[in-house]
Amino acid sequence: MGANPVQVRVLSPALCELGPNTRTLEDPLNDRNDSKPVANAQAADSTWSPESWRDRSATQQPLYEDPGEVQSVVDHLKSLPPLVTSWEIEALRSQLGEAARGQRFLLQGGDCAERFDECTPDRITSKLKILLQMSLVLVHGGGRRVTRVGRFAGQYAKPRSADLETRDDVTLPSYRGDNVNRPEFEPEARRPDPELLVRGHTCSAMTLNFIRSLIDGGFADLHHPEYWDLGFVQHSPLRAEYERMTDSIGDSLRFMESVADATVGQINRVDFFTSHEALVLLYESAMTRAVPHRRGFWNLSTHMPWVGVRTADPLGAHVEYLRGIRNPLGIKVGPGTDPAGLLAVLDLLDPDDEPGRINLIHRFGAHKIAAGLRPVLDAVKASGRTVLFCCDPMHGNTETVVPSSGPWKGMNVKTRKFAHILAELEQAFEIHARAGTTLGGVHFELTGDDVTECTGGARGLTDEDLARSYRTHVDPRLNYEQSLEMAMLIAKRMGSWSR
Ligand code: PEP
Ligand code: CO
Repeated sequence: MGANPVQVRVLSPALCELGPNTRTLEDPLNDRNDSKPVANAQAADSTWSPESWRDRSATQQPLYEDPGEVQSVVDHLKSLPPLVTSWEIEALRSQLGEAARGQRFLLQGGDCAERFDECTPDRITSKLKILLQMSLVLVHGGGRRVTRVGRFAGQYAKPRSADLETRDDVTLPSYRGDNVNRPEFEPEARRPDPELLVRGHTCSAMTLNFIRSLIDGGFADLHHPEYWDLGFVQHSPLRAEYERMTDSIGDSLRFMESVADATVGQINRVDFFTSHEALVLLYESAMTRAVPHRRGFWNLSTHMPWVGVRTADPLGAHVEYLRGIRNPLGIKVGPGTDPAGLLAVLDLLDPDDEPGRINLIHRFGAHKIAAGLRPVLDAVKASGRTVLFCCDPMHGNTETVVPSSGPWKGMNVKTRKFAHILAELEQAFEIHARAGTTLGGVHFELTGDDVTECTGGARGLTDEDLARSYRTHVDPRLNYEQSLEMAMLIAKRMGSWSR
């Protein structure tokens, strides 16, 4: 690879970096990402090390049976190549700094939980397509450059509200993601198996490798929009509007090419980054490496790890681990977040108020954002910090419905309503505008496939439709059409705010 994660041939000027040199950060050969500590491997604070989290209370961790087996897995992981590089991570950090200042917009999205058996070319391609299409729509309507960050190539571990699950008279450990155990309700499947962490590394590497190849090969080139077509949306109500948009971008592209006498793809390319929740600390710390010629430690399993609402305790192991790595960090913020506690977390994770270091991902829910978000914005603003604020309109809007007819009649089904997701986002834009802060990004659980997990949207999916193609084992995702529609609605909203 060159000096960037995944490089996309450019679609429109706003999608790309302005200038060919913005991304040539360093000589790639300097970044060997050795796993062995090197002379300049220096933690910002001498009390921190990649293992110092072990002295804190670590919630949401798998309970493995055999410590010897765990140690040999950790040793194996430490010997494996990293998945990303520190100069890619630095490139993302600088883009997130721009997003925090309102000069860019972050689009972060992907599955709630990736599955090993979905590490297939079609699934990976459709995820990439929907994120690219959404970013195109956001650029077109919102007029801001967009940074794309996938919830993929490592999103294999899930926090759970309960350690155990009971069905009839049987109680087993909860499913915690493919990195930990398997979803089938059987004792052997639910047993946490440390070897799955190595499998997670392998699937992440395969996913990222395929994404890098697709994009380097020109998959995202607007000169070939047919690559992005998803067959099942031939008759989508959104298709005409989307095609109008790509046509108009294609016209601008041809105009620019004739003026510049070059193809825009030769002038500029754009990036794609990865993220996942830093949950299983054995994995995250095994993938934490020192890098020659740079100070500090880097989590080289992903560009942007995030800490979830269940593990963002300032005294806990997750915050202890994250404070010592150099990556940009996501922090989830929700109805249970106390603003003073959040400031304590920010002091630990971002003592120097570095641009692009913190992505505060708020997820209150359509009914709670009006009361909950403003105190958080005011507290952060009063602290004088510049963070990136991003809205996750998914996690506060999960509900259980009971379809009154159809194959799942009378059953409890976890879903989300398109209208609630949109309502949270619309309120987020308004609350930020009133508070004098900037909403710099969005965070979605989505898939490029034709699933039926969330209701509503242009096709008006109902509770009775859920049984048709409900595939998630954890949270419900927007399907391809719902995701594209959401992007169109946000883009319109962003356009009207900026006028
Ligand atoms: C998630 O992003 O999948 C998640 C569990 O989020 P949260 O920590 O916000 O509940
Ligand atoms: Co989720």
